[in-house]
Amino acid sequence: MPNNEQKISLLSRYQRLIKIAGDLTSKLDLDILLLEIVKAAADITGAEAASILLYDAVKEELYFQAATNLDTAMRGMIVPLHNSIAGWIVRNREPIIIDNPQEDDRHFQPVGKATQLPSRSLLGVPLITKEKMIGVLEAINKKTGVFTLEDQEVLIALGSQAAVAIENSRLFQQSDLIGEFVHELRTPLSSLSAATHLLRHPRASQEQKDKMFVVLETEINRLAEMSTSFLDLARMESGRSQFKFEKLDLRSLLRECSDLVEKEAKDKRLDISLEISEYLPDVYGDHDKMKQAIINLLSNAIKYNKEEGQIILRGEGVPDKKEILIMVSDTGVGISEEHIEHIFEKFYRVPTYSDKVSGTGLGLAVVEQIIDGHGGYITVESEFGIGTTFAIHLPSSE
Ligand SMILES: Nc1ncnc2c1ncn2[C@@H]1O[C@H](COP(=O)(O)OP(=O)(O)OP(=O)(O)O)[C@@H](O)[C@H]1O
Ligand SMILES: [Mg+2]
Repeated sequence: MPNNEQKISLLSRYQRLIKIAGDLTSKLDLDILLLEIVKAAADITGAEAASILLYDAVKEELYFQAATNLDTAMRGMIVPLHNSIAGWIVRNREPIIIDNPQEDDRHFQPVGKATQLPSRSLLGVPLITKEKMIGVLEAINKKTGVFTLEDQEVLIALGSQAAVAIENSRLFQQSDLIGEFVHELRTPLSSLSAATHLLRHPRASQEQKDKMFVVLETEINRLAEMSTSFLDLARMESGRSQFKFEKLDLRSLLRECSDLVEKEAKDKRLDISLEISEYLPDVYGDHDKMKQAIINLLSNAIKYNKEEGQIILRGEGVPDKKEILIMVSDTGVGISEEHIEHIFEKFYRVPTYSDKVSGTGLGLAVVEQIIDGHGGYITVESEFGIGTTFAIHLPSSE
């Protein structure tokens, strides 16, 4: 029989839960929402830490997306459906309490290593909404005593609220993005339609026709690029895109990026140089995504540069700040004060150049999402007419 003290504590835990549930439904940013959920999970179960693994039904994999103690080595880490406790929860659609997870056959060893948090006890519940498996919510290490069925009960209650909130946030982000995308489709579509119209015109000269073919080509390419970038963004924003974290050798990554754009730069008579400081520790990151972020910045440095301008790609470690910097500087047109605060917004392009230089306005939004997924941030400094420097700041584990 639970004594009075326990009864009160269960009641107060439910009261906390009701408040949390109310807060959750108002959070539409997925990352913020997930962080709130794990904090609440650790709190109401009296655990040292908590984490969320999301389920990718297509690949039949789970991956870490949020934790109270998440470090970059762990984010995106894939956990197999078989041979893991979280996988067991997904397959059985049942909660579980394990007192000594490290000795359990299902324990997936790499996680313990990455978190450096030896797990003494674990309570995990499935996140399910309308029969759809969303993922797993786990509380790790009960601070005093062991996880009880009462802990399990409140975590299940939190989990069911959390699952709905996660679905809502995903749907909201998708509908928001689709609206923007459709809006942005109108401009290239009306150019395409005007161009085809002119091509049909009986009195159009060959010269006019040739011009229109160029318009068609450019707009079609732009639409194709827009679709790709847009899909990347949508996947990252909704947390469906997995980051495959591994140790990255930045020296070779930066070299790879500079080699890739070298020809394009030379064709425009731009000088591109690579600077690598002596101290440049490895970082954990997703190779392809990091490469894409750097290439996007280099592509801007090329596109918005001046005749015979310069580009510097630089990598350096900042030991005082435990940070790694990847910088892309150019001697280009620069960005004035009024525009600089908008350049990371989706589809935003500085009007002066948008007619002369082709682009979708999604490049920097993609970069920002990628860097965010690595636990870093990006800064920009620019002087109008002189040039611009973008700096990617990544946390260094050394
Ligand atoms: N290095 C730079 N120098 C000057 N302006 C820049 C620079 N980088 C970005 N901008 C400005 O910021 C805007 C947004 O950049 P972003 O990379 O997001 O889009 P884009 O280059 O126009 O298109 P996309 O990258 O999708 O092809 C650009 O249109 C440009 O006006
Ligand atoms: Mg760009």
